[in-house]
Amino acid sequence: MALDLAIVGGTGLYQFPGLENVTRREIGTPFGATSAPVVCGEIGGRAVGFLARHGEGHSVPPHRVNYRANVWALHSLGARRVIGVNAVGGIRADMGPRVVAIPDQVIDYTHGRLTSFCDVDGAEVKHIDFSEPYSAALRRDLLAAAAAAGVPVVDGGCYGATQGPRLETRAEIARLRRDGCDLVGMTGMPEAALARELDLDYACIALIANWAAGCGDEAEISLEEIFANLREATATVPKIIAALLSR
Ligand code: HPA
Repeated sequence: MALDLAIVGGTGLYQFPGLENVTRREIGTPFGATSAPVVCGEIGGRAVGFLARHGEGHSVPPHRVNYRANVWALHSLGARRVIGVNAVGGIRADMGPRVVAIPDQVIDYTHGRLTSFCDVDGAEVKHIDFSEPYSAALRRDLLAAAAAAGVPVVDGGCYGATQGPRLETRAEIARLRRDGCDLVGMTGMPEAALARELDLDYACIALIANWAAGCGDEAEISLEEIFANLREATATVPKIIAALLSR
């Protein structure tokens, strides 16, 4: 059965709560192995696939994720809608820890990643339109689902995608702020662009784990705090998805 929806889980989301009748699918791709098997199952009778972006034991760092294999595999299972769940740091004043946002723009600061399916001899060269990096329809549906589920979310924001795996310096975040970034994360790109190359409807649920460097009162960023905040923010995701699928 073709997937109705695919979810790519980020840091703190390695299994999807509420997924029933699951089968684990190892999908071979022309681009190599996915980060983990795709866990296919049902939510409210709808076929949903879940893929842990960093592997089920968080063994794959952001710059080494095989984004091409992951996106290809979800497409090959019939998914036409993909939601990337990403842990991020907050830059804008209303993007503090535990806030959930549905960003609408991206600036890509990553480097050295394999960013296109065209990057193979003989492949057709595609210049996708990426003016709006996320699917307007899927963003709208996510915002409506969050409202129906009673989950407050921020509508919009510019996601700055950094290379990682280290967090940023204060100067780097000050630059991102000047550039217009509201959030910063390490995994938003090239996933969104690859999804567009395959004509998938793609949107991001950004879970704010911490104030980005220099944006809060703390002198440094505590990993314990990141994980505690993420646990709380991650709990909203199954509620939003259940509401999305029941629409
Ligand atoms: N920077 C980049 N990625 C992140 C952060 C951050 O502060 N927090 C969670 N993911």
